Amino acid sequence: MAKRLLLTGHGGFVAGSILWHARQDWEVHALSLTEPPGVTKHLTTYQFDLRDAEQLRNVFEAARPDAVIHTAALADIDYCEAHPEDAMEINVGVTASLAALCRNAGARMILCSTDSVFDGSKGFYTENDAPNPVNIYAETKVRAERAVLDTVDNAVVTRLSLVMGLPVLGAGNSFLAKMRIALEAGKQVPFPQNEVRTPVDVITLGRAFLELATLDYTGILHLAGNTRLNRYEMACHIAQRLGFSSDLVIPTDSNAMAGRAKRPNDASLDNTRAKTLLATPMRSLEDALDLILEVEKGIGFRV
Ligand SMILES: NC(=O)c1ccc[n+]([C@@H]2O[C@H](COP(=O)([O-])OP(=O)(O)OC[C@H]3O[C@@H](n4cnc5c(N)ncnc54)[C@H](OP(=O)(O)O)[C@@H]3O)[C@@H](O)[C@H]2O)c1
Repeated sequence: MAKRLLLTGHGGFVAGSILWHARQDWEVHALSLTEPPGVTKHLTTYQFDLRDAEQLRNVFEAARPDAVIHTAALADIDYCEAHPEDAMEINVGVTASLAALCRNAGARMILCSTDSVFDGSKGFYTENDAPNPVNIYAETKVRAERAVLDTVDNAVVTRLSLVMGLPVLGAGNSFLAKMRIALEAGKQVPFPQNEVRTPVDVITLGRAFLELATLDYTGILHLAGNTRLNRYEMACHIAQRLGFSSDLVIPTDSNAMAGRAKRPNDASLDNTRAKTLLATPMRSLEDALDLILEVEKGIGFRV
C-alpha cells in the first residue's frame, strides 16, 4: 500500500516537483492557501490558511501521514522584513504546530529551511556551522528549525540553496521562469554579484525530499548543487545555455540597494553529507540546467 504524505505549500515551486515525483509511490494529502493547481490520482487537496490550528489538526488527523514535508512559508525576504509578525506566525508558529502534531502521531517531519540562516561571512557552510541570521526571514527559519529539532525525534531540517528551475506543477517562485520571459522580450536582467551560492535544481530537490522521507536519517542536511558561484555568474551561464547573450545580464550589489533587507554575501553550502547519504545525485550547474530543460521538453512545464 502507498505510504501517506502530507505536503504543505501545494501551489509552491518546490512542492510542485515533490508532487510530480510522488505520483507513483505516495498517497499525497496536499495543503494550499490559494486554489490548488491541479488534481491527480492519489492526491487529496485541502485549501485553508495553515494558521488555522484547528483545521490543521483536523486535516492532519484525516490524512494520518507517515511523513510530512513542510514547504509552505513566507519566503519573500523583503516582505518578511516589512511584515515581521506575519513572518513569525507563518514561518515559526505554523511550523511549531505541525511539529507538535508530528510528535504526537509519530510521523516523520521534513522542514524546508534555507542557506540564508548563515551570515555569509565564511561560505561553504557545513551542517555543523552555527547559524547567524542577518534578516527577519532568516531569523524565522532559525526559530522554525529549533522548533522542529526540539519537538520531533524523527525529523530532518533541510537547508536549501538557491532553488533553480521551471515550475513543474502549479507556479511558485521561479527566478529562471521570470528571467527567461525577460530575456525573450530583450530586456536586461539584474543579478547580484555579491551573493555567492550553490544553486540546486528543483527536479533534484523533489526526488531528494521523497528519498529523505523514506530514510532513518535525522538532523540537519544541506541540499545544494556542486557549483559554487555568484548569482551574476550563474545568470550569465543560464542566459547562454538558453541561447541568449550574457550582455543582457547586469551585475548588481543587493546590499547596496536602498529599502531592501540585508542578504548574506557568501551563503554557499557544503553538500558532502547529502552526497554521502542520498542516492539522488547532487548536480553541477551545467548538469542541472540540462536536466531542467530535458524535463521541460518531456512534460511541458507551465511557465
Ligand atoms: N526557492 C528558493 O530559492 C528557496 C531557497 C531556500 C529555501 N527555500 C524554502 O523552501 C520552501 C519552498 O520554497 P518555494 O520556492 O517553493 O516557495 P513558494 O513558491 O513561495 O511556495 C510557498 C508556498 O507556501 C504557501 N503558503 C504561504 N503562506 C501560507 C499560509 N498561511 N497557509 C497555507 N499556505 C501558505 C503558499 O501558498 P499559495 O501558493 O497557495 O499562496 C506557497 O505555495 C520555503 O520554505 C522556502 O523558505 C526556498
